[in-house]
Amino acid sequence: MTNCVEAVFLATSPEELTQEYDKWATSYDNDLEGHAGPKEAAEQLALLTPKEGRILDAGCGTGLVGQHLVSQGYQHIEALDLSNGMLQEARKKNCYCAFHQQALGSALDFPDHGFDAIIIVGVFVMAHVRSDAFDELIRITKPGGHIIFTLRPEFYANTDFKPTMLRLESEGKWTLHHVTDPFHGRFQAHPEVNLQVWVYTIN
Ligand SMILES: C[S@@+](CC[C@H](N)C(=O)[O-])C[C@H]1O[C@@H](n2cnc3c(N)ncnc32)[C@H](O)[C@@H]1O
Repeated sequence: MTNCVEAVFLATSPEELTQEYDKWATSYDNDLEGHAGPKEAAEQLALLTPKEGRILDAGCGTGLVGQHLVSQGYQHIEALDLSNGMLQEARKKNCYCAFHQQALGSALDFPDHGFDAIIIVGVFVMAHVRSDAFDELIRITKPGGHIIFTLRPEFYANTDFKPTMLRLESEGKWTLHHVTDPFHGRFQAHPEVNLQVWVYTIN
């Protein structure tokens, strides 16, 4: 397990990252059993989003977030990921009504203002998706809709995520609705990791 975890954090290009997730896809659920991010983020989404809402699970991986959303009563959940291997695993969960192999951080192939909520868990981490992905995510979310994502507290504080998130708020693009207290991520390979869920309302 540790090798797969380390490999994705050491990837030096999107192509390498994709290959590593393709390799990890079939054992990912077993390796990340009990990981707290999907449940905590889905619970935050459910506090704000109507059950008939159109939701995008961006960086869906194998569909752990989708499973929690279904158990919360959501029926229109779309899956987006870079890795075909991860998307294949997500299909098996029978949670999603559409699948999109696209790259966050580049132009997304969706019209403006289509989603009631976008949820992004475990994707804004080292060597994955940078904070410049927020512009496109904001564009495709309805005004009054929400973007919900996890971050490690130290990653927020020590990277350009903090200034980017503050800038988007000062520019009036979004408004911080809520950020949770740090909670234990429950990653077997990295027991020291804490997470927070950030919830923004799109203006
Ligand atoms: C740690 S996994 C998290 C998966 C899932 N959200 C979860 O909580 O279990 C990160 C996922 O982000 C995807 N990913 C990485 N970079 C991406 C990008 N630029 N665009 C879309 N997905 C990406 C990976 O393929 C992988 O499935």
